[in-house]
Amino acid sequence: MSEAVDLQDARTAPALVWQQLDRLKGEALLEWRMAPIANGRSAQERNIDGLPMPFGWFALCYSDELGVGEVKPLRYFERELVLWRGEDGTPRLLDAYCPHLGAHMGYGGKVDGQHLQCPFHSWRWDGEGRAVDIPYSKSIPPRMKRPACERSYPTAEVNGFVWAWWHPQHVAPLYELRTFEEVGHPDWTDYETHEWIVHGPMQALAENGADSAHFKYVHGVVDNPDYDIRYEGHRRTAEVRVRMGTPRGLVDGAIAYGVDGAGQPWTRFTGICETLLVTGVTPIARDVTHLRFAFTQLKADRDGPNRGVAKAVIRDICKQLDQDKVIWDRQAYIDQAPLCAGDGPINDFRNFFRQFYEGAEWDKYREAARQRTASH
Ligand code: FES
Ligand SMILES: [Fe+2]
Repeated sequence: MSEAVDLQDARTAPALVWQQLDRLKGEALLEWRMAPIANGRSAQERNIDGLPMPFGWFALCYSDELGVGEVKPLRYFERELVLWRGEDGTPRLLDAYCPHLGAHMGYGGKVDGQHLQCPFHSWRWDGEGRAVDIPYSKSIPPRMKRPACERSYPTAEVNGFVWAWWHPQHVAPLYELRTFEEVGHPDWTDYETHEWIVHGPMQALAENGADSAHFKYVHGVVDNPDYDIRYEGHRRTAEVRVRMGTPRGLVDGAIAYGVDGAGQPWTRFTGICETLLVTGVTPIARDVTHLRFAFTQLKADRDGPNRGVAKAVIRDICKQLDQDKVIWDRQAYIDQAPLCAGDGPINDFRNFFRQFYEGAEWDKYREAARQRTASH
């Protein structure tokens, strides 16, 4: 049994899990971050199965992972998807199964101009899911000529990521993505990227920032500064002043943190080592989440005398994520959790996050939860 699998073993006491995690380095650590769970439990057993997937803008890949004319199979939103970049440079996303006879267009599909050519019978599809050409037929079935919002997804490209808008009822985008001027700026470094597959729902990851008590027990943070969290529409922001130990002694700094919608968190460190963390959180399924961290730092810090601190900032954030993942991978969802003083503003957070659940799906989930509680 490899060390990566040992780490997944729920019989290991958490403290030991984290000690072992500390020793994981390089390839073994990367493998652990993405590995399937050896003895994971079903979404149903963990009370996640009925929890809706939130709607919003979600990262699909980095821009430089999708060249002009490239086709990619993806799995997000509990669907098979195909992403391509047309000759015009625009990324487009469709359900992968061709509506003609069901070929998976992510495997063998080709780009033709702006369109996607199916590998099976060469029908050409546009980004709105319309058949635009059948090479061996003069006519196209009328219903294939209409845009199909149920199997096409609005896309956007900002901050070096390709994004898609997903909504269970195919409602058009309700807010815009945030853009950061640091990304691609000549004074800022290229992204340093890290990624994880977390075996838990989007909500559990997002809730972490509001969960004050865990910082001590999971991350060993003794004085967790109180974040003053603000909620405005689809945005959640917080700012905190911190004092950090550096090779130059204690330095005053600030951490600003926010989330736009359910899928676009970001964190900005100022004062100590200027760092921007652009995050993409994307549901693969309601109980599996893909998380990407992309760091950019001021070149003057990253390449200057602050170099050690610059690297430590990134290392510490990733380490915290590893520590959280140990919990998230096996956590059950507790609806109407019995919170106590000191738990932090978890209920405020849940009320905020609920706006990203489509109304009917949320009502269905709450009704099922109510019945479960009543039958106990
Ligand atoms: S299955 Fe795609 S063109 Fe026939
Ligand atoms: Fe955490």
